Amino acid sequence: NHNHNHNHHFRHADSTASPPSSAVAKISHLKAVVLGDAPASEEDDVVLPSHDFSRQALVPSQQKYLEMYKASIENPAGFWSGIASSEFYWKQRWGDQVYSENLDVRRGNIKIEWFKGGITNVCYNCLDRNIDAGLADKIALYWESNEPGFDATLTYSQLLQRVCQLANYLKSVGVRKGDAVVVYLPMLMELPITMLACSRIGAVHSVVFAGFSSESLAQRIVDCKPKVVITCNAVKRGPKTVFLKDIVDAALIDSANKGISVDVCLTYENQLALKREKTKWKEGRDIWWEDVVPKYPTSSDVEWVDAEDPLFLLYTSGSTGKPKGVLHTTGGYMVYTATTFKYAFDYKDSDVYWCTADCGWITGHSYVTYGPMLNGATVLLYEGAPSYPDPGRCWDIVDKYKVTIFYTAPTLVRSLMRDGDEYVTRYSRKSLRVLGSVGEPINPSAWRWFFNVVGGSRCPISDTWWQTETGGFMITPLPGAWPQKPGSATFPFFGIQPVIVDEKGVELGGECSGYLCVKSSWPGAFRTLYGDHERYETTYFKPFPGYYFTGDGCSRDKDGYHWLTGRVDDVINVSGHRIGTAEVESALVSHPQCAEAAVVGVEHQVKGQGIYAFVTPVEGISYSDELRKSLILTVRTQV
Ligand code: WT7
Repeated sequence: NHNHNHNHHFRHADSTASPPSSAVAKISHLKAVVLGDAPASEEDDVVLPSHDFSRQALVPSQQKYLEMYKASIENPAGFWSGIASSEFYWKQRWGDQVYSENLDVRRGNIKIEWFKGGITNVCYNCLDRNIDAGLADKIALYWESNEPGFDATLTYSQLLQRVCQLANYLKSVGVRKGDAVVVYLPMLMELPITMLACSRIGAVHSVVFAGFSSESLAQRIVDCKPKVVITCNAVKRGPKTVFLKDIVDAALIDSANKGISVDVCLTYENQLALKREKTKWKEGRDIWWEDVVPKYPTSSDVEWVDAEDPLFLLYTSGSTGKPKGVLHTTGGYMVYTATTFKYAFDYKDSDVYWCTADCGWITGHSYVTYGPMLNGATVLLYEGAPSYPDPGRCWDIVDKYKVTIFYTAPTLVRSLMRDGDEYVTRYSRKSLRVLGSVGEPINPSAWRWFFNVVGGSRCPISDTWWQTETGGFMITPLPGAWPQKPGSATFPFFGIQPVIVDEKGVELGGECSGYLCVKSSWPGAFRTLYGDHERYETTYFKPFPGYYFTGDGCSRDKDGYHWLTGRVDDVINVSGHRIGTAEVESALVSHPQCAEAAVVGVEHQVKGQGIYAFVTPVEGISYSDELRKSLILTVRTQV
């Protein structure tokens, strides 16, 4: 099997602590070098940005980063108000205080406010402001269907017209400022259109990933009681058709039984997946998008809102069964997502940006819709599955649209790595200039593959650490500024003060490892858990009083780089040794015959906990006792 051989060779070469000279050569001829001949450990494995990249970068050096970082920490009010007033439109400026906060439960309720009293609108800043600045005919959205050969585009002015029509429709059915709208849509252009339309009229969208079950959808509907639910009849995912409307129907019955009935279910007819005649229908409640929305005017007034008015709710799982409704507000979120997008991807007006995340997750909120659109970027939306019809689809899309920034998750990187280099190298990919990773720690061997094979050893990787709760990037490389260490998210973004504490909440200095917390607030921070401020305080601010607790473990190396080790709720304690599941997983996937791994702790009578690993062998390899022993040995050696 040729795929397997490719992988085998590559991973093996790449996962050793000291990269073989061939790997060094591959990188250094493109002016990125591995310092030293044989790094003693991951910490010493350094990849420098190329001079060509740094020269054109927004933040071209470590010195420049340090200067800006220092300014942001010494004077957060000045730093953020400077950006907020020069790069955004405010109907009215905020009051005397740029921000006010209490992050210490011992001093009363937790409170975070940024730009309070400032009056603005996020949709206006994404669309009208950019159009006024000359971007009317710039492509805002490229849409690529699940089926190769079907696509669509919208310019900024066309997008604004679509958004206004929906905004006008929503107002006509009684949606007002502060009302919730639940959105259960796949990656159609109608999804960002819906988010922007809600924001335009001050409604609070709650996008539910259209892969969640009807029970999960119902649970969210019951929690936020929307006026309207917006969905589509069906979607194709790879070769499969998913009947979304059936799931919504079931959820609406379920929520009605729990006392919450929804009057309007606006349904987009996704003709490529299912004709309307075949869609189950409830007269009076259900209404076809195409029958009503296009009849409304293509311009609409903006609902001017306070910076601290809610923008959206997004549910995320907690340690209990009930999902947490993470609430983000308007002004701070706007300033923060736009600024992090710009710097972490070294954004240029000519970029074509593709983030593979679905808008049903925070990544799709902050870095498909809001961050890029606030920058007037050209955004690619892909409806389908990344390996459909074959594992080369991503690179086919990259070449088709000349994508310059490609942002994805380590799990996709590893899965494509498993399918073999051939699917990548048959495409040019020469438009790419920046790569991004998010969602979990990226193990060094996947990093290397992403860097060398996908990016042709030319594109820096922004390994962005953040959370639904943080709104935007917290720890991330600024490509061009810092030497990178594969597997490390590097340094904090402007205004962010990460601290590592021990179990007593004592801040650790220098080289250390412990619980990752954040000192002081930042504009993009979530303000509460919807309807449960107490849970907000208990989960995030009580564990280590005075700090926001992230739930992640982290170590800082001798050079100050941050290494995320995974959720501390996923930490395993084996005979008193703390082991991050991510560390073990990373070790397992570095094994040439292991493609994916997931590790959990199991109760062990002698050791407290033992390690249980679920592994997927690479194509062509089947499970055997020999493989098991070899995997265990790899973990022993590396952890
Ligand atoms: C958790 C947050 C933020 C968007 C996607 C996930 C893990 C996220 C990284 C990264 C190491 C990461 C953390 C975090 N995580 N990005 N670059 N390196 N870990 O959002 O569902 O809110 O999950 O994802 O454990 O706490 P989320």
